[in-house]
Amino acid sequence: MSIRIALTKGRIEKKMVELLEQSGINCNKLRNKKRKLIINSNDGKYCFILAKGPDVITYLNTGTVDVGIVGSDILAEHNNEQCELLDLQSGKCQFVLASTAAFNFDRPGRKVIGTKYPAITQRYFESLGQDVEIVKIEGSVELAPLIGLADAIVDITETGTTLRENNLIVYDYLDKVSTRLVANRMALKQHTEEIFEFSDRLEKTVAANSSVQRQMEESK
Ligand code: PRP
Repeated sequence: MSIRIALTKGRIEKKMVELLEQSGINCNKLRNKKRKLIINSNDGKYCFILAKGPDVITYLNTGTVDVGIVGSDILAEHNNEQCELLDLQSGKCQFVLASTAAFNFDRPGRKVIGTKYPAITQRYFESLGQDVEIVKIEGSVELAPLIGLADAIVDITETGTTLRENNLIVYDYLDKVSTRLVANRMALKQHTEEIFEFSDRLEKTVAANSSVQRQMEESK
């Protein structure tokens, strides 16, 4: 029987296809999937299910899938209840507090913060002892301070391009984010061997890539 793997669509998927191929898993079908959402690997060992990040959490929590590949941003926002097996050292980005140059962090009064991550934002401002109003936004969060919807945003940034091109400034750096491999607890008991075989394969590739990266940095 194949293990069911929920894979987050989009940026994570693209980077993961490379990592899976480096780990010796043929991804031709994943690369040419078009609009298909369920893809079986050629060797029949893996069944990939393409989903949005928050839905990967739902599938994991309901046991609909055995493992999930999802960002630590989504895991932190939804309070992960399952078993995190591996940091895949991919999809690296960081949470930031950002706004226009006109934003004054120390201004008294209740700030309005736009974000896709209300729980993380709440925890961050609670840690600062500040009571803020949070407006949940589904995408293009950078718009919020530009159109007067919010005083500032809490969002993830990878290259910094979106912030730069929209004249936004980083006021604080929060947690770092990377892609994680997570297993449903029950599935881990029932399919221990298959899940660890998959995890070990990926772990070896991640370790080899990190070692190459370190050598490149040292030779600079
Ligand atoms: C994320 C994030 C930023 C952008 C940052 O959005 O919310 O908008 O990436 O990336 P950068 O620092 O490399 O420019 P995403 O592209 O996932 O889509 P969204 O705006 O629809 O949420």
